[in-house]
Amino acid sequence: RIAHHPVCPMFNLIGWVDVGSSHSEDIRFVTDTEDLLNVKATAVVSKSALISETPAWNSLKNHLGHINKTHLRDLLKDKDRCEGMIKEYDGVVVDFSRQRVTHETLEKLLALAKEAKLKEKIESMFNGEHINKTEGRAVLHVALRAPRYEQIFCDGKNVVPDVWEVLDKIKDFTDRVRNGTWVGVTGKPLTDVVAIGIGGSFLGPLFVHTALQTEPGTAKSSKGRRLRFLSNVDPVDVACALNGLEQETTLVVVVSKTFTTAETMLNARTLRAWITSALGSEAVSKHMIAVSTNLKLVKEFGIDPANAFAFWDWVGGRYSVCSAVGAVPLALQYGFETVQKFLEGAWSIDKHYHNAPLEENLPVLLGLLTVWNVSFHGCSAMAILPYCQALQKLAPHIQQVSMESNGKGVSIDGETLPYEAGEIDFGEPGTNGQHSFYQLIHQGRVVPCDFIGIIKSQQSVYLKGEIVSNHDELMCNFFAQADALAYGKTREELRAEGVPDYLIPHKTFTGNRPSLSMLLPTLDAYTTGQLLSIYEHRVATMGFIWGINSFDQWGVELGKSLATRVRTQMNAARTKGEPVQGFNYSTTTLLNRYLKGKTQ
Ligand code: F6P
Repeated sequence: RIAHHPVCPMFNLIGWVDVGSSHSEDIRFVTDTEDLLNVKATAVVSKSALISETPAWNSLKNHLGHINKTHLRDLLKDKDRCEGMIKEYDGVVVDFSRQRVTHETLEKLLALAKEAKLKEKIESMFNGEHINKTEGRAVLHVALRAPRYEQIFCDGKNVVPDVWEVLDKIKDFTDRVRNGTWVGVTGKPLTDVVAIGIGGSFLGPLFVHTALQTEPGTAKSSKGRRLRFLSNVDPVDVACALNGLEQETTLVVVVSKTFTTAETMLNARTLRAWITSALGSEAVSKHMIAVSTNLKLVKEFGIDPANAFAFWDWVGGRYSVCSAVGAVPLALQYGFETVQKFLEGAWSIDKHYHNAPLEENLPVLLGLLTVWNVSFHGCSAMAILPYCQALQKLAPHIQQVSMESNGKGVSIDGETLPYEAGEIDFGEPGTNGQHSFYQLIHQGRVVPCDFIGIIKSQQSVYLKGEIVSNHDELMCNFFAQADALAYGKTREELRAEGVPDYLIPHKTFTGNRPSLSMLLPTLDAYTTGQLLSIYEHRVATMGFIWGINSFDQWGVELGKSLATRVRTQMNAARTKGEPVQGFNYSTTTLLNRYLKGKTQ
């Protein structure tokens, strides 16, 4: 665009070129018309500077040398330091004093957040701006847990009433199934539910279900009911999901944002055949319901749209557990009230993320610390270690939330990143993990750990004659592991213990391995919602700092389209005996052996 500058005598300005990008504007001063035309011809859309090119990033890089000279053993002696690193919000306590940071590091990380315009990006998310640029979508999973009276706008429309319209419909439907008003075609109550879905349409609901099934209150509200998940297209998973179930008493929920995902749709057809083979085709309307953004395809599949629960394109698949994706199966199993408490827990953290100053903001702090570990210390993995068996599906869920969101190689403007983004997330509940991969964490690679502990367990076992209860025993390990990683064990200590010289190198622990400890008062629907929201916003924070789009997932598309090619050829080979072609030697050989039904 060419516009006349109002006044600028100093430069004898005759005009300006505003390249008009949505990023930083490139304004160049020119002195005559020829210059102006040159600038106009060469004007390109300028892009936001990569975060690694900013002074705040360089300052952290320089600071790393200082931190590398410190040891957690010494840092943990500083009471003031530690005091400032234990933060609390709405019952959640986070202690990051075992991170390799000083107050100076934190200041520098907060300066990085400022440089990355973190506050503004969080604001844009809550304002419904289309921050998922490659898909032209808003990112508003926070609206899914907003109370009725809240207003959250997307494209000029308050979406909260739409959210509540669906929630009210879910309450009404699930109440009717649970109280036996809605029954199967033979008149029997539907006590069992199979939720078909994959990725975000499965992992979040499974995580929440696993967290709640042993909690006394929710266990009571689910008495006599069974909830199964069917995700993998593997026939073994079908067999596991249906094991012991009867068509007459089973309700199938097909959960798919797009309603096109190959695995989910094949599983949906398989279970439709399972239902109709026993009960006839009219049974579908009573025994199959759907959750999707694509109500047209739901109808084409044969499910009555009246029995479908909608959500919206501003909900990313991996961020959809608070939509009907999680709400329908969880309300069927535990009752709508439980779902509401779960949403309230998530909303409590959403408000905190939106409003709390960055230096007090739990998800922001966790996100910044992870950026510090990944981008500056070079730690490519992170372990999620809940000392709580009911959180056994937390790590698999966060794996998708984090790795599908931040596993990117280009900036939001499409520039190749000169630094790694994303991290490898894995985890197991303690103490099981201790007897599996902790060896590597203690003496092998440096893997920052999240230790998550629960103060009041869902269950209590205290055997007479034992020193501590089972839960205390579990928590002893929770406290011990974080210190073992931080302090390690020195040669001197080993010598003092009389360890023979030849064993000293093997028994030495370097220590200085970062971790953070999180304590929740208990594990129920509310705190499960809090935990979910903390991790979701932590991941968003990391993406905002790295300057990537954490809300698309183009990386999963290539594999899907290649599978389509294989599927077409497999079908032609099986039905018409056509030879497979167009693949490399390796794929052709293995595919032929597979089609032959034997390896030789
Ligand atoms: O694996 C890619 C993905 O698109 C995920 O993002 C999503 O959660 C999953 O597939 C399932 O998609 P849908 O809900 O559309 O079936």
